[in-house]
Amino acid sequence: MIGSDIEYAAQCIREGKLVAFPTETVYGLGANALDSLAVARIFESKERPSFDPLIVHIATIEMLYDLAEVSDSRVETLARAFWPGPLTIVLPKKDIVPDIVSSGLKTVGIRMPRTKIALDLIAKSACPLAAPSANKFGQLSPTTAEHVVKQLPELAYVLDGGKTEHGLESTVVTFQDSVCKILRPGVITKEDIQHILPDIQIEICTTNTEISAPGLLHSHYSPRKPLYIIDDCKRDFPKHAGLIAHAYESKEPSVAHLMYTSLNGNVHEIATELFAALHTMEDAEDVKEIYILSVPKQGLGIAIMDRLEKAAFKYLGKNTSL
Ligand code: TXA
Ligand code: MG
Repeated sequence: MIGSDIEYAAQCIREGKLVAFPTETVYGLGANALDSLAVARIFESKERPSFDPLIVHIATIEMLYDLAEVSDSRVETLARAFWPGPLTIVLPKKDIVPDIVSSGLKTVGIRMPRTKIALDLIAKSACPLAAPSANKFGQLSPTTAEHVVKQLPELAYVLDGGKTEHGLESTVVTFQDSVCKILRPGVITKEDIQHILPDIQIEICTTNTEISAPGLLHSHYSPRKPLYIIDDCKRDFPKHAGLIAHAYESKEPSVAHLMYTSLNGNVHEIATELFAALHTMEDAEDVKEIYILSVPKQGLGIAIMDRLEKAAFKYLGKNTSL
């Protein structure tokens, strides 16, 4: 059921049920992070492998100290700069965090989301919320309440906050010795972090690094139709092609379905509309395969291309029609 009753949603959480809620990035599928049974329902409902750890969402800075060891002043500097907001910090976990949340790792990812609905839900539930994106494992992330219901129709409750502000997941970081590692690129860019911590070395990890973060799987975020990334539209598209472009094409290509995430290549607009456009193409009956234009890999474009390359990974090399 979709609605706006935060009291009822909090009651569901306290009873160990799952509630989907809007954050400024994507919708999350929340459960009481301190209740192992409730958290197990997240894995079951998403069909998510147990090796993929969950992010714990908090509403106050005090909750951070309850859940994790914070011995590094750079953590507090980042938290002050970006919370509430789209940054997840991976820290050594305290025993109060059940192992199922961290998939057995000794660390836990924590973030304070920015929407009032999420913050109110956490406060009224009186517990931190473990919440992955509210989609089936490996499929498209949800940026509206309707996207959530499409993939998880059996949920107890979906809090509706309309379309999410950023449309892409949070940036996940951790500190290793003197280096800040970006385990998953996201809304907060390397440059944003460098601006706050000018003297620190920052590395963006790719799939082949030693750090195991399941968001680094090769294949993730995929639509249920073949998806191909292209660099330009100078080609003949097959009859049932859907095309997602990011800037107005004055010579519109001949395709079954054409969508724009932005009319002028604005990366913030592209990020916000990315998953929504992919959902629309996934649902469009006249579309059998989806083509999407690439964006330059800089700033927010790094996170956009990270999602696109993972979404298209399983179709790599299978594109015989072009
Ligand atoms: O914006 C977001 O982060 C959204 C909203 C709902 O907050 N959540 C989200 O969660 O994207 P999820 O489960 O779809 O992705 C979380 C990713 C994991 O796949 C993993 O890569 C990383 O965060 N992660 C979580 N805990 C970790 C840990 N202890 N160590 C390393 N990576 C971790
Ligand atoms: Mg996800």
